[in-house]
Amino acid sequence: MPGRVVVVGATGHIGRPLCRELTGSGRGVSVFSRDPARARRLVPEAMAYLEWSPDGLLSAEGLGHLAAADAVVYLAGGPLFDGRRHGRAEIEAESRARIGALGRLTAALGGLDRRPGTLVAASSVGYAGYQFQFLTLRAALHDLIYGGDGK
Ligand SMILES: NC(=O)c1ccc[n+]([C@@H]2O[C@H](COP(=O)([O-])OP(=O)(O)OC[C@H]3O[C@@H](n4cnc5c(N)ncnc54)[C@H](OP(=O)(O)O)[C@@H]3O)[C@@H](O)[C@H]2O)c1
Repeated sequence: MPGRVVVVGATGHIGRPLCRELTGSGRGVSVFSRDPARARRLVPEAMAYLEWSPDGLLSAEGLGHLAAADAVVYLAGGPLFDGRRHGRAEIEAESRARIGALGRLTAALGGLDRRPGTLVAASSVGYAGYQFQFLTLRAALHDLIYGGDGK
């Protein structure tokens, strides 16, 4: 069962309750956020707040938290599920931004001598096969928190 978890996008709808559950079950959570001071207010129970940018900004300290983590949960992304109707160009631009940001994070993970054993990436879950993808995400997060069978 993972003891240390990095959560990217921890300040959002899923991230906030996820962090509460993780810390409540004894995990140490490192929050990666574009605004660590705001993240500290929104997710006060985490053990560390690191600056992260979708453009790739990650300090040596941030890399250290990735190397020490057992799991990484990636929830970051611009608002696509905010109730507003988004045009195709906007969705494509946001999708490219998400692919780029997640790609840079996985490249950083690939460069570590010790890597977390689990990566749960939820960014853009929902655009195809919504229900199946969302249930798969829920099961993966359930396993991460409780070490159960995801039901
Ligand atoms: N909630 C749902 O029902 C649902 C359904 C299907 C799929 N999803 C997907 O699951 C993931 C998490 O969902 P959520 O509802 O928790 O998302 P959310 O509330 O929108 O939070 C996403 C987090 O991403 C960061 N963020 C915001 N704008 C960003 C930008 N332009 N570039 C990079 N990061 C940005 C923010 O963290 P910081 O400000 O701390 O950096 C924010 O807290 C998202 O990728 C979402 O598309 C969610």
